Amino acid sequence: MIRTAVFPVAGMGVRFLPATKSTPKEMFPIIDKPLIQYAIDEALAAGASRLVFITSSTKPSIKDYFSDNLKLESRLTKASKIQIPEDFIDVVPSNVECIFINQDFPLGLGHAILCAENAVGDEPFFVHLVDDLIYSEEPCLLQMKNHFDSYNHSIISVEKVPIQETSKYGIVELSKANNINVINSIVEKPDPIDAPSDMAVVGRYILTPKIFNFLADQEKGKGNEIQLTDAISKLLLEEQVHAFVFDGIRYDCGSKLGYLKANIEYGLRSDELGNDFLKYLLALKKESS
Ligand code: UTP
Repeated sequence: MIRTAVFPVAGMGVRFLPATKSTPKEMFPIIDKPLIQYAIDEALAAGASRLVFITSSTKPSIKDYFSDNLKLESRLTKASKIQIPEDFIDVVPSNVECIFINQDFPLGLGHAILCAENAVGDEPFFVHLVDDLIYSEEPCLLQMKNHFDSYNHSIISVEKVPIQETSKYGIVELSKANNINVINSIVEKPDPIDAPSDMAVVGRYILTPKIFNFLADQEKGKGNEIQLTDAISKLLLEEQVHAFVFDGIRYDCGSKLGYLKANIEYGLRSDELGNDFLKYLLALKKESS
């Protein structure tokens, strides 16, 4: 049973400046739902009942999203006959615990995870990077949890990327053991020439609590940040860590192109908008050709 999901949401979102000056990228909508809500829904579908957000005092709107907005609610009720959507009132079900922890300085993803140590305790936990949006029939974290239930080892989700893009990702070197992808080594953002493979880490993990021992001693690495990748590299020496090739489509919503792709593809899949949106795109294509 994995009950805790950790969401590191304290990054600076440099790639989306100036929008991220006032709106954290985790609050960017895909159609009408912020990325953070997709992340919450995926973690709940995998059985999480404690959600730990590592946030920053520079991003107050993330915590605000979980609070009631009574003024707006009452205005909506008074001013219109529109039914207030249920998820406007309840972002998470009442039996789910939400914990917010401040990361005072953005010292890196590894440091953000370390901030969750006391909240997580001595048990395995999910890590979900909100800007990696994954569309799949079975939620990605649930796919990983089903794998974890059989093996009890840490798991990192991975996907093949063009070799010229390895310097954007953690890259793993794998071997197969009984049909399982076991990670032999992991390196943060290598140049293509140094990359051990083209299998990149995607923002979903299940980690055993031993990772905290390594994070606590972890020196700064690539980009002068405390890297989760470097701590996992040490964990590998003591525990088997599996790579998990998930079933689904990933959108890198931390990048402008990935975010645009997500909006277009979710728009086309939408019951409400899909047909009209497709008509619009086809007309646009005709006009421009
Ligand atoms: P990114 O590498 O995407 O960094 O972090 P970022 O700062 O959010 O975005 P860019 O690259 O500047 O545009 C991966 C995840 O780790 C979180 C981020 O919020 C993101 O979800 N993170 C990163 C933290 O919570 N704290 C940190 O110190 C760094």
